[in-house]
Amino acid sequence: MSKNLLLLAGDGIGPEIVAEAKKVIDKLNQKMSLGIEYSEGLIGGCSIDAHGVPLTDETIDIAKKSDAILLGAVGGPKWDTLERAIRPEKGLLKIRAGLDLFSNLRPAILYPQLADASSLKKELVADLDLMIVRELTGGIYFGEPRGVRTLENGERQGYNTMVYSESEIERIGRNAFEIAQKRDKRLCSVEKANVLEVSGLWREVMERIAKDYSDVALEHLYVDNAAMQLVRAPKQFDVMVTSNLFGDILSDCAAMLTGSIGMLPSASLNSEGLGMYEPVHGSAPDIAGKGIANPLATILSVEMMLRYSLNMSDAADAISSAVGKVLDKGLRTADIYSDEVSITKVSTTEMGDAVVAEL
Ligand code: IPM
Ligand code: MG
Repeated sequence: MSKNLLLLAGDGIGPEIVAEAKKVIDKLNQKMSLGIEYSEGLIGGCSIDAHGVPLTDETIDIAKKSDAILLGAVGGPKWDTLERAIRPEKGLLKIRAGLDLFSNLRPAILYPQLADASSLKKELVADLDLMIVRELTGGIYFGEPRGVRTLENGERQGYNTMVYSESEIERIGRNAFEIAQKRDKRLCSVEKANVLEVSGLWREVMERIAKDYSDVALEHLYVDNAAMQLVRAPKQFDVMVTSNLFGDILSDCAAMLTGSIGMLPSASLNSEGLGMYEPVHGSAPDIAGKGIANPLATILSVEMMLRYSLNMSDAADAISSAVGKVLDKGLRTADIYSDEVSITKVSTTEMGDAVVAEL
């Protein structure tokens, strides 16, 4: 049975890294007869240029009918001065909301070959394997009211609203508990319950549903402390669950522990298992078109897609093992390069080709 994949390469380095992921899919299709068919669509700045909006309803419809979506990255300086409602980032938020992709899985795994690239001492990050579960369709990103208003004294005031209903907290919470059950059975819920009402409710709901997962140890941390603990002793964590905004911040922080944000994939899932897969990094306009971007986060996003949405774990294993071998051979793109005799600097396409060769 064939599977339909929608590719949304987006802007900046997006097209370059998605091109490498395509090579990997083509190779796996040919070698393992996966029957993955893909079509391509526009999101972000390229969609603004073509259609005047960062994501068309037609593209959302195609996405809804797909078995999975692979996204590159969106945004760039060209579109930064546009009105907020039609900026590239809105396309991303619209597809997340439109497909109800409430659960965002952002693993931070340290490849032993890259321990030197971490900003922390080797012993603090060796064997790091943590999973951040970020709520993706609620919170302050989507909360109403929002805007900029003019006060009586004539001064302008910007405002946003952090809102979570019990059911929204419960569904991401249950999701995180289930993920923890399949891992080391430790879950850390992150909020700011000492200050925010919305966080107080978050904690209450987490406590309540914890009773259904007695095999998982639940702890709570305030987000400021969680940020500190992430850079102090990251290996204390197994799974972290948190809201949209806190997860945005903490996942960048966790990414850096692994040496390069260029290595990290992510999955955004809805309750039916439809998923959108994308590298954690952004469109990196400063290096776009130079052929130096690291395609591994996107290739590893394909791995997650095969595992979580397409039930093709053999093919997923083949990717992780190929990536491991390429790193063992000392091949590195600029972001993970270190000046040593055994290390060879490679371009975006050379890295993609090396993974394909291992497959
Ligand atoms: C991310 C990004 C997005 C977010 C931006 C591009 C809207 O930072 O996926 O982490 O804030 O969610
Ligand atoms: Mg972010």
